[in-house]
Amino acid sequence: MRLSRSEVRTVRPDDAPAIAAALNDRCVWRNVRDRVPHPYSLADAEQFLQFACSRDPPYHFAIVVDGQAAGMVGLEPQGDVYRRSAELGFWLYRRHWRRGIASEAVAAVIDHGFAAHPGLHRIFAHCFAWNEGSQALLRKLGFVQDGRLRQAAFKDGELVDELAFSLLRPEWEARTAASPGSGSSDSQAGGLVSGRADGQAER
Ligand SMILES: CC(C)(COP(=O)(O)OP(=O)(O)OC[C@H]1O[C@@H](n2cnc3c(N)ncnc32)[C@H](O)[C@@H]1OP(=O)(O)O)[C@@H](O)C(=O)NCCC(=O)NCCS
Repeated sequence: MRLSRSEVRTVRPDDAPAIAAALNDRCVWRNVRDRVPHPYSLADAEQFLQFACSRDPPYHFAIVVDGQAAGMVGLEPQGDVYRRSAELGFWLYRRHWRRGIASEAVAAVIDHGFAAHPGLHRIFAHCFAWNEGSQALLRKLGFVQDGRLRQAAFKDGELVDELAFSLLRPEWEARTAASPGSGSSDSQAGGLVSGRADGQAER
């Protein structure tokens, strides 16, 4: 998907050096889960990309800026009674922050997810209470705060509240109808989640 400030495509094994350089940043690490190690090495990136590239359908997308993978958006399908939901995650190389790159890329992945997968009803994201950038981005894209999970996470040596946000399909449809062409819904990026309207997992 070509956007005005970036390109969004599925991740590739050869993204490893660029991903390692961009993700080896304490400011990013402080806002993501501890499964992302810090420092973040080339071997960490290679291992992650081996996993991400083996997913079928793929659900990790690279945000490509000036020809280099500079961030990622993930839309991870959930299982069991949550099978009509997908968890959104995202990060961007700090040198590109505050230029609208992440919000445009995340919006495109959301558009793609809802458009390509009729069974998907809810996209949610959790962020730490101190993460004002992420909250601003989610609100800008129409996400509603569902609640506050008090001291739910232990990050960087601190207990921290987590804020839960979600966007439901009817809310996304209303936004899309109000601003047609606001995002891309082509399927160049590949599949994300179950497309079955009955919500049963396809895999
Ligand atoms: C969150 C993150 C992806 C935002 O990237 P970005 O490219 O700066 O985002 P955008 O430029 O698209 O900004 C989106 C909105 O958030 C606002 N925003 C961004 N950073 C902000 C901050 N630190 N404080 C307040 N608002 C902020 C922008 O002003 C913009 O709103 P506006 O259009 O109304 O002005 C980036 O800061 C990041 O990678 N952070 C570390 C990882 C992370 O937090 N991931 C999410 C975990 S839930």
